[in-house]
Amino acid sequence: MNAAEPRRIRSYGRRRGRKLRPARQAALDSGLASVSLDALPADGALDPRGLFVPAPRAAWLEIGFGGGEHLAWQAASNRDVGILGAEPFVNGVASLLAQVARQDLRNVRVWPDDAGALLAALADASIERAFLLFPDPWPKARHHKRRIVNPANLDALARILADGAEFRVATDDPAYLGWILAHVLDHPAFVWTARDPSDWRSRPADWPPTRYEEKASQSGRKPYFLSFRRRPRP
Ligand SMILES: C[S@@+](CC[C@H](N)C(=O)[O-])C[C@H]1O[C@@H](n2cnc3c(N)ncnc32)[C@H](O)[C@@H]1O
Repeated sequence: MNAAEPRRIRSYGRRRGRKLRPARQAALDSGLASVSLDALPADGALDPRGLFVPAPRAAWLEIGFGGGEHLAWQAASNRDVGILGAEPFVNGVASLLAQVARQDLRNVRVWPDDAGALLAALADASIERAFLLFPDPWPKARHHKRRIVNPANLDALARILADGAEFRVATDDPAYLGWILAHVLDHPAFVWTARDPSDWRSRPADWPPTRYEEKASQSGRKPYFLSFRRRPRP
C-alpha cells in the first residue's frame, strides 16, 4: 500500500467458524460462481447497477452482513434494487447464498471479503442506501482503531453515496453509539435525520432484526437505530 493512500477498512474477526454443513457448502460452491464478485475493477470504476440485468433502479450496500438475513429480506422486499453485500466470514456468506437460492434473489451480489476493497472500487455517488448493522464494537481502548466507523471509512462512504442517500447504522453498545454519533456528525457529508431522542429507539418498519440483534435482545441489550443522510454535494 502506498504511504499516501488512505487506510482501507480491514476486518479483524474470524473468517471461518464451524465446518459448513454439506448443504451450506454446496450453496457456497454453486452460489459463489453466479453471485459473488471474484475480482474488482480499478478504484472508482465499479458501476454497481451494471452488475445486474436488467439494470436496477438503485444500488444499495450492506457492510458486514453476518448471516445475511437482513440483506436477503431487503432483496426480497425490493426486487427492483440491486443489493451488494461485503462479508469476510465465510459461514455468513454461505448462509446468505442459501437464502439467495431459496428465495431466487437475482438482485444480490456478494463481495466475500473486507468491505474496504469494494468501497474503493465503487464509483462516486453510485450507492443510494448503505447499511452497517451491529459493527463489532471493539470495547477495549487499544482496539478502538479497529472500529469500522472512523474518519477514513466515513470519507470512503461519503464518496460512494449519492446525494441524499441514506446511511443506516445499528448498535447495541451505548459506548459505541456515542462514538458513532460523534464521528458521523463531525463529518461534513452527513446529517442525522432523528427528530427526537426516542427516534433511535424506534425500529423503522423496513428494518428487520438481524441475527446479532436477536441474540443481543435475548441478553437484555437494546438496539439503537441510526439513520443519516448524505448531504447534497455543493
Ligand atoms: C457483530 S457482527 C454483525 C453481523 C450482522 N450485521 C448482524 O447484525 O447480524 C459484525 C460483522 O461485521 C463483519 N466485518 C467485520 N469487519 C468487516 C469488514 N472490514 N468488511 C466487511 N465485513 C466486516 C464481521 O465478519 C461480522 O460478520
